[in-house]
Amino acid sequence: MKKPIHIIFLGPPGCGKGTQAQKLINEFGFVQLSTGDMLRAAINSGSKIGKHAKSAIDKGNLVSDDIVIGIVRDRIFNAECAGGYMLDGFPRTLAQADKLDQILSEHHQKIDVVIRLCVPDDLVLRRIAGRRFHLASGRSYNIEFNPPLIEGKDDITGEQLVQREDDKEEIVQSRLNTYHELTEPLVRYYQKQGILRAIDGTGSPENIYTEIKQTLNDVPA
Ligand code: AP5
Repeated sequence: MKKPIHIIFLGPPGCGKGTQAQKLINEFGFVQLSTGDMLRAAINSGSKIGKHAKSAIDKGNLVSDDIVIGIVRDRIFNAECAGGYMLDGFPRTLAQADKLDQILSEHHQKIDVVIRLCVPDDLVLRRIAGRRFHLASGRSYNIEFNPPLIEGKDDITGEQLVQREDDKEEIVQSRLNTYHELTEPLVRYYQKQGILRAIDGTGSPENIYTEIKQTLNDVPA
């Protein structure tokens, strides 16, 4: 696969952005920049940013553009990203997308492709309702689609699996509303730039991954 490549994963909560990013990490060693993961790390560290992020995430709202742009800017030009990166969960507003374009052009970089994973709301709700994590490793399971060998336990350590606080039903609905209102306009934004590629995200993870790899191979060098 051609590298470096700069990818955005775009899609509703639970559409499979993280699942597909992990496959690209495993096969090609791509670097994933997940703003959700970064914000959860900030929450766990007890920092000021973490406190602000927690109050927004717990309600299913977006964290402020300034904070999110700041944490992405801190990472995106690090040496680890010199070979390319996948932005997972960023940008999520038109303001974030504009700012990203501006920052990248200042560094003579650009996004090569935006992969939009299309999944309807009812399937998103089922996927998120079934998602469980092993906290220490971040391993992700799904009680319906990818169950652990023993119910409620991590396959490797046998430790208890947990559900993310913002995966509770009432918060997921609010995350979905936020997605439709503030993030979906990015579809048009990247269509206009000619770099959006829509992929049906309703099939098996393996079939979706095959399609993503095909899409990445077709990205002009
Ligand atoms: P974030 O952590 O980014 O959450 P999200 O975008 O809502 O996405 P998820 O991580 O929930 O889902 P995913 O698409 O990665 O799906 P997954 O692969 O796990 O953000 C959390 C919060 O942080 C936001 O709500 C916001 O408050 C804040 N935030 C983050 N970025 C921000 C930004 N840029 N600006 C402002 N605020 C920001 O899959 C889901 C489940 O489905 C899993 O169980 C998986 O096993 C299963 N699954 C996946 N694919 C398939 C398949 N093909 N078939 C069957 N099951 C599947």
